[in-house]
Amino acid sequence: MTQTMEHDILVHTEAGVCTITFNRVANKNSFTASMYIAIVQALESASADAQVRVVVFQGDATIFSAGNDIAEFLAQQNAQGLPTDSAVFQFMNALAQFPKPLLAAVAGPAVGIGTTMLLHCDLVYAGDNAAFSLPFVNLGLSPEAASSLLLPRLMGYHRAAEALLFGEPFMAEAALEVGLVNRVLPPTEVNGYTQAQAKKLAAKPLEALVQTKRLMKGAQIGAVKAQMMEEAQVFNRLLTAPAAREAFTAFMEKRKPDFNQR
Ligand code: COA
Repeated sequence: MTQTMEHDILVHTEAGVCTITFNRVANKNSFTASMYIAIVQALESASADAQVRVVVFQGDATIFSAGNDIAEFLAQQNAQGLPTDSAVFQFMNALAQFPKPLLAAVAGPAVGIGTTMLLHCDLVYAGDNAAFSLPFVNLGLSPEAASSLLLPRLMGYHRAAEALLFGEPFMAEAALEVGLVNRVLPPTEVNGYTQAQAKKLAAKPLEALVQTKRLMKGAQIGAVKAQMMEEAQVFNRLLTAPAAREAFTAFMEKRKPDFNQR
């Protein structure tokens, strides 16, 4: 069954697998508030629907997601920041608390929240063209989605510091080495392989899947939520500061930012 929540997010459920496809390729699958809301609604339905056992996120063979839409960041800056019940925070909370297995098929760039969302997925399969990046500092911002907690835990402090302070892309093989990715495949095979893995999981008993995930994640969920709140306060302050304004404006004007004095 295909439900189109909105054109930029496609939701299709078949054989126990709910697939959420990012479909804003002309804008590199950057996320708008309405896309976050569509994903949150799809996750709520998938959580409640006993027919759905597994959820898959995917882009296409060239792009996973360029992260938050920067034009919307600029607009939020003018509106004095993001309330903690805003669409993006609803999305992060829904991800962190989703009870069933979450899989991601990543090909091409996965920028900002395109990478941090993967820290809340249970299995990540990547094309060898996948390029992960966390350019928060380069945008005058700070990490979100509890990545400032989960990334050092996953890859060790110094590797996390390199990824977060420089914000430079790292490729699929490096992501595999640090444990962010389960397997690297040719880009055109990632979505198909992830679907096959999802179908395998969907044939297993749901309650056993859910309880296994809960037991693995349960001990850190309180810390994850607290970190997301703390991050949100810092992020919001930086979002409305001059450095971020310069970074967003420079991106829109296709020039290098000038952080002199900022
Ligand atoms: N928000 C809004 N628009 C975005 C976007 C974003 N995050 N990322 C890309 N786009 C738009 C570009 O402005 C461009 O629009 P145009 O065709 O009207 O000029 C279009 O998508 C194509 O992007 P382009 O940069 O030309 O593609 P590319 O293949 O050379 O590079 C990326 C792809 C993802 C590496 C690059 O677009 C990028 O770095 N984007 C910004 C990522 C970012 O900083 N996100 C915020 C994270 S917190």
